[in-house]
Amino acid sequence: MTVAKWPVAELHVHIEGTLETELLVALARRNDVALPSYDPDVLRELYRFTDLQSFLDIYYANLAVLRTEADFYDLGMAYLTRASAAGVRRAEIFFDPQTHLANGIQLDVVFGGLTRSLVDARETLGISADLILCFLRHLGGQAALETLEAAIPFLDQFIGVGLDSAEVGFPPSLFTEAFAKAEALGLHRVAHAGEEGGPDYVYEALDLLGVERVDHGIRAVEDPRLVELLRERQIPLTVCPLSNVCLRATPTLGAHPLPAMLAAGLLVTISSDDPAYFGGYVDDNLDALQNEFGLDHAQMATLARNSFRAAFLPEAEKRRHIEAVQEHLEGLLRLTSGA
Ligand code: ADE
Ligand code: ZN
Repeated sequence: MTVAKWPVAELHVHIEGTLETELLVALARRNDVALPSYDPDVLRELYRFTDLQSFLDIYYANLAVLRTEADFYDLGMAYLTRASAAGVRRAEIFFDPQTHLANGIQLDVVFGGLTRSLVDARETLGISADLILCFLRHLGGQAALETLEAAIPFLDQFIGVGLDSAEVGFPPSLFTEAFAKAEALGLHRVAHAGEEGGPDYVYEALDLLGVERVDHGIRAVEDPRLVELLRERQIPLTVCPLSNVCLRATPTLGAHPLPAMLAAGLLVTISSDDPAYFGGYVDDNLDALQNEFGLDHAQMATLARNSFRAAFLPEAEKRRHIEAVQEHLEGLLRLTSGA
């Protein structure tokens, strides 16, 4: 018997990181772009990372295959279809416009394809999704500000800004202007912090950028005062366990700080980050955690409920999703009690 997936919100997924090698090859052929191999399995074999930068090098190189609105549409639809099967009812999806601009692809092409995929997925799959525009930290603060200004004509097509790419050496303090401008434009704000960078990056993201969620944040556990701050303010952390293992932010899944984070009362949510590279979608991440740590149904329900609590959705919509989590939990408890 197949058990239905937990209904969840996925709040930390890079659309570019959902580019499966099969689609990578198809787009390379469609656009006549050279790849090291045209065998999806051989390409996947190259995905052996030693840290964040070793992943980013391949991730950015692969994005040369994205050329047209149809490419971005296909990428968006492929993710949303897989995510829907994983139980995702709400997706808040990162994208990296600066990478595409550097490849000569204009913003209207990127927005055109991605937004159309979101609209169609809502209609055909019933999944709710929005975009979050990420700034690439390695390009600096001025480039971030210029990117945001260039995106103003598309303000109705994204709900927030984020901060990603190489973390160490590019602290949140470099991006205060871009984030202040985003706030003035009424946008939500999130940032990767505490993935490879230490607790100081998390403090800066909160204090200088005013972020509403912290992406990853796992190194916050090194600082008890920061843990207390995150707990007290119930700042959501979008944790991506399989990513953390693949990029060696944690030596093994068993050494992952997730149990400690839950025990500390943090508002932890689970996401897949770059599922095409890290071996799994959000359901795979949840399954891996359940197997590794023996999480019970109530703990799984907490993770699912947290994801909707942390979503950028109206309260009534959050409540409706949280009721679905409760129904799923009660169904599982009935199954296991044999009732
Ligand atoms: N871009 C895509 N995935 C990322 C990650 N895990 N950290 C920083 N930047 C990213
Ligand atoms: Zn990420």
